[in-house]
Amino acid sequence: MILVRPSFLLGRFRTYSTARSSLTVDALVYPKYGRPTEVLKWHSYPLPALTPETVHVKFLASPINPADVNQLQGAYPVKPPFELLGNTDDTKYAVGGNEGVAQVIATGDKVTDLKVGDRVTMAKAGYGTWRTYAAGPVSDFQPLSKADKNVTDVQLATLSVNPCTAYRMLKDFVHLEKGDYVIQNGANSAVGQSVIQLAKAWGIKTVNVVRNRPDIDQLRDDLMQLGATHVITDDVLGSHETKTMIKEWGQPKLGLNCVGGKSATEMARHLSANGQFVTYGAMARAPLALPASLLIFKNLAFHGFWMTRWTDTHSMEERTEMVDDLVAMMARGDFVEPKWTQVDWKEDSVKSAVDHGIQGFGTGKQVILF
Ligand SMILES: NC(=O)c1ccc[n+]([C@@H]2O[C@H](COP(=O)([O-])OP(=O)(O)OC[C@H]3O[C@@H](n4cnc5c(N)ncnc54)[C@H](OP(=O)(O)O)[C@@H]3O)[C@@H](O)[C@H]2O)c1
Repeated sequence: MILVRPSFLLGRFRTYSTARSSLTVDALVYPKYGRPTEVLKWHSYPLPALTPETVHVKFLASPINPADVNQLQGAYPVKPPFELLGNTDDTKYAVGGNEGVAQVIATGDKVTDLKVGDRVTMAKAGYGTWRTYAAGPVSDFQPLSKADKNVTDVQLATLSVNPCTAYRMLKDFVHLEKGDYVIQNGANSAVGQSVIQLAKAWGIKTVNVVRNRPDIDQLRDDLMQLGATHVITDDVLGSHETKTMIKEWGQPKLGLNCVGGKSATEMARHLSANGQFVTYGAMARAPLALPASLLIFKNLAFHGFWMTRWTDTHSMEERTEMVDDLVAMMARGDFVEPKWTQVDWKEDSVKSAVDHGIQGFGTGKQVILF
């Protein structure tokens, strides 16, 4: 029998047997890849017992990201583990979701790096965050030492993918001085909003490209409020007037491509000579076509960025430094919550949110609150 420290949630001592904990995990799981709404199902199983080296966490919030949908379809390079989850038949399940924030509710006797009450995110992609509880070694979790009470669960639940991606892309491809310009498409995406806020905090100017829509003035106002320098629509991106305007503002040294297709080609044309163009998304599902002149005469360099690869190739210390920096900005009010809508923790609600996530013109990041 392992005696667990007092649960701050229940305000009393709780004990878990070594055979299994007394807690039941409710999870949205899938036995195989396929259409998300067809393969996702509700599954309950006992939380594995605490061991001296593990912790128990309770999930607080978890977003539905485009990559989660791709993963469910089997079209994402990170393959989740398919495991027996307390079931007696032979069906192995993967738990949906990659990102989220959880709170430590119990620690094994040998755990010193985390304590009950700490909030944590997942240390790596593919964890399976659409569930109420999880058990695992400390190395599964990223501590959030700077997360004071000003930092919301939604901010932390949506921290490890999009803000970290924006942070790395602004820092790692070209040295940006204060006043330099960056251009990005998909500027209203969660990554785009992160780019706008980080750039503003670091004195970098942004040209933000979004798809035109009936309420474009509202979207423009929202992005300007967040710190965007300019917002333009993709239907005028290739025009002569836009070219002249961007030249007057100052040609961007860095382009961040969330979309691909025509939007990406037009955006690349606006970069300064020797500019760096980073592709991190492919929302239009159209190939990136590049005029040879951009490579030959302008000497543009084209890169891809994938946060998962960065995490796999960098140390936990480097990741913690970035995460602490971002969380400290959140605590100071320099980095606000993404626009988000609540998804209830019910099978039908999550399934319809996943369906909605496949379509465009979203109303912001969809976040499950447990
Ligand atoms: N490489 C990495 O490490 C990394 C990390 C994070 C995210 N990503 C990728 O970045 C992209 C954005 O992720 P997110 O979580 O920030 O997304 P998000 O908040 O859900 O936003 C999606 C964005 O895509 C746009 N969009 C959707 N369908 C489109 C289409 N057919 N044509 C053009 N634009 C379209 C949306 O614009 P509307 O409002 O006009 O629909 C919105 O700006 C995804 O592809 C995601 O997989 C990659």
